[in-house]
Amino acid sequence: MSRRRIIAGNWKMNKTPSEAVELCATLKDLVKNDDVDVVYCVPAIDIVPVANAVKGTNVHVGAENFYIEDKGAFTGEISAPMLKDAGVEYIIIGHSERRDIFGENDILINQKVKKAFASGLKPILCCGESLALRKAGTYTEWIKRQIKWDLDGVSADEVKNLVIAYEPIWAIGTGETATADQAEEVCKMIRETIADMYDAATAEAVRIQYGGSMNAGNAAELLAKPDIDGGLIGGASLKPDFGQIVNA
Ligand code: 13P
Repeated sequence: MSRRRIIAGNWKMNKTPSEAVELCATLKDLVKNDDVDVVYCVPAIDIVPVANAVKGTNVHVGAENFYIEDKGAFTGEISAPMLKDAGVEYIIIGHSERRDIFGENDILINQKVKKAFASGLKPILCCGESLALRKAGTYTEWIKRQIKWDLDGVSADEVKNLVIAYEPIWAIGTGETATADQAEEVCKMIRETIADMYDAATAEAVRIQYGGSMNAGNAAELLAKPDIDGGLIGGASLKPDFGQIVNA
């Protein structure tokens, strides 16, 4: 098994352009690691200054959102060609905050995954259950269904280049992390789902991250699990701790 680890920060709606450049400078020496893909997924307005700030380093730039059309009358939106031209490589799709606060459903998320691949962007596809589903014990079926809907019509070759982030909603920004065993159980199940939908080689290639209150203290234990290939980090990606997670 030779999946390359991927540690991505999701800055969410934090950091003005000048603060973003400062954060890049703070993290610059802390995130050096040639064995890991390091990604900063940043607010749209920070993309250009961050892309400039990380030039010549090992850091890749990601975006947090985009729309499925290339251009036109879509007030307030940003397109894949715009992101590509600004130096973006990765794109977060299907984050629970976009699903729950902005009403994005699996039909749109599926369109976004297909559009990202067609445009040469690498999707980080998020999935995960609410606390109610976790308590009801039906989270496995829920996540399987999300994966099946979101990857409808996506080819095996594309999925080999996909990153899937398992983010239990009850662990996001709450300080309550899934235990390493809980996270591994779901990440393994996601890989088995990909094997069922595609084949063993595709399941072996797809990279699966855990996200939800990952921090400098718990990263090593989570990342030691066989089916956890990285992390999608919110709060701790805005602090020097992010360097410890990259090097965990
Ligand atoms: P926190 O790390 O702040 O819990 O956020 C996780 C997340 O939503 C990353 O996308």
